[in-house]
Amino acid sequence: MKLHVLHENPDWYPPFAAAFDAEGVAHEEWLLGEGSLDLDAEPPQGVFWSRMSASSYTRGHPWAKDHTRAVLCWLEAHGRRVVNGRRVLELEMSKAEQLTALRRAGIAVPRTIAVVGAGPGERARGILDAAGRIGAPFIVKPNQGGKGLGVRRFDSVRELAEHLDGPAWEPPVDGVSLVQEYIRAAEPFITRVEIVGGEFLYALTADTARGGFELCPADACAVPTESIFALRKGFEHPIIERYLAFAAEYGIEIAGFEFIEADDGRILTYDVNTNTNYNPEVDAAAPRSAPRQIARYLTSLLDVEAALASAHVREGR
Ligand SMILES: Nc1ncnc2c1ncn2[C@@H]1O[C@H](COP(=O)(O)OP(=O)(O)O)[C@@H](O)[C@H]1O
Ligand SMILES: [Mg+2]
Repeated sequence: MKLHVLHENPDWYPPFAAAFDAEGVAHEEWLLGEGSLDLDAEPPQGVFWSRMSASSYTRGHPWAKDHTRAVLCWLEAHGRRVVNGRRVLELEMSKAEQLTALRRAGIAVPRTIAVVGAGPGERARGILDAAGRIGAPFIVKPNQGGKGLGVRRFDSVRELAEHLDGPAWEPPVDGVSLVQEYIRAAEPFITRVEIVGGEFLYALTADTARGGFELCPADACAVPTESIFALRKGFEHPIIERYLAFAAEYGIEIAGFEFIEADDGRILTYDVNTNTNYNPEVDAAAPRSAPRQIARYLTSLLDVEAALASAHVREGR
């Protein structure tokens, strides 16, 4: 019985493969993006971990999202143990859905208007209207995002109008743009809270004064500068319990929640990463390594599946 890891970017796999090997977990990558799926077939035995990323389309895999939808439905229909399954994929792919769910759970989020239909010309008007309602400064970002791509700050509606008419504007892949209040941070960093298997692991900060908006923590994304990431040592805050309850409610087993402490005292959560990459230096400094903890957690799930399978065999089922 083995662990199957569903994803589309092999560059992000080595730290996890190393942790699985260190824990002695048999594992296999399942790359999604194209290929066939026999709906009459039985899925293999084992535990399945979906690491499908909202930014897969930026790496030449525009169909990875729908491929994963189909595969997860099939796995779940056969009762397979899936970590970060079908429901979680929808959250990963839509910030509008994340923000709505967070808000419903009583977790404060930045004021946001989702605008559908963001092509050139007349249709971009919806984005301008929303920006006028939010007020400057504001952020425009794609609903299906990742790595900070396409996240921009504007200081006026006019600046946005020029941008929408210019060559740098890229209509969002799912047709949905978010216009969001710009959060003025009390200090220039964001905090990311890492959760594995329903447990808080550690928090880290990313320096936004130096890092800008593209904050991918993986080694594969690293630019050769001094790290903008640091462990937020001894982070304790009631928000952690809220994230854990939220994760439990939505069946999110592995995730990183991002928040900013605003200069008016609000703590605003704006991103839920269910495909999370870990910064190696921060991870080494943390009390427990995230990939190692994931490997241990998935091993415990594999043990349960193996016990269930052998019980079925004994009962002759
Ligand atoms: N409303 C906001 N106010 C201020 N900064 C923001 C806001 N939204 C995003 N950012 C900045 O942009 C970065 C990327 O945005 P995010 O929503 O996390 O998108 P992604 O899913 O691409 O990571 C954030 O980590 C933060 O630094
Ligand atoms: Mg983010």
